[in-house]
Amino acid sequence: MDVLEAIKGRRSIRVFKSQNVSAEIIDKLIDAARWAPSAGNIQPWDFIVVRNPEIKRRLAEAALGETFIEEAPVVIVVCANENRSSQGYGIRGKTLYCIQDTAAAIQNIHLAAYSLGLGTCWIGAFGEEEAREILNIPHGVRPVAIVPVGYPSEAPSPPSRRLINQIVHYETF
Ligand SMILES: Cc1cc2nc3c(=O)[nH]c(=O)nc-3n(C[C@H](O)[C@H](O)[C@H](O)COP(=O)(O)O)c2cc1C
Repeated sequence: MDVLEAIKGRRSIRVFKSQNVSAEIIDKLIDAARWAPSAGNIQPWDFIVVRNPEIKRRLAEAALGETFIEEAPVVIVVCANENRSSQGYGIRGKTLYCIQDTAAAIQNIHLAAYSLGLGTCWIGAFGEEEAREILNIPHGVRPVAIVPVGYPSEAPSPPSRRLINQIVHYETF
C-alpha cells in the first residue's frame, strides 16, 4: 500500500470482529514498530502482547472502562524504556526522546496494521500505575499506549483536520 494512502486512510477503530489475529501478523506489526527511527538508534521500546481475556478485561477497566479494548482479539501495550534512553542521553533521553521514539513505533504499528486490513486504536487514557501492576512492568519502563488490534467491524468517516494554513508558519513562528 502507498504510504500516503495508509497515512490518510487509517482510522481509529473501536469495534472489532471476533476473528482472531495470527501470531505471524502480530510479529509483522512488531517488526514494523522496531524499524521506527529512534534517538541514537537506542530503540527504547518494549511491547507486551496480550491475548488473555482476564488481562484484557483488567486493562479495559484501567482505561476508564473502554470495553472495546477487551473485545479486540489482541492488545499490544507499548512501553517506553526510560532506563535505556537515559543511559544514552540523560534527562532529555528519559523525558523526551524515549517518548518520541515510542510514539513513532506506535504510529508504525497503526500504519502497518491498516495496510494488512486490521484496525487499531491508540489508547492513551489509562491509569499508568494500574497498567504497570496488571502487566508487572518494572520501574524505569513506562506503558505509553494500549493498542487493541483486530479486524475492523466499523468504517468511521475521517474526523476533520486543522487546515494547513492554520498550523504552518514560515521562517519564524
Ligand atoms: C496520544 C493519543 C491518545 C489517544 N487516546 C485515546 C483514548 O484514550 N481513547 C480513544 O478512544 N482514542 C484515543 N486516541 C485516538 C484519537 O481519538 C484519534 O486518533 C483522533 O480522534 C483522530 O481520529 P483518527 O485516528 O481516526 O484519525 C488517542 C490518540 C492519540 C494519538
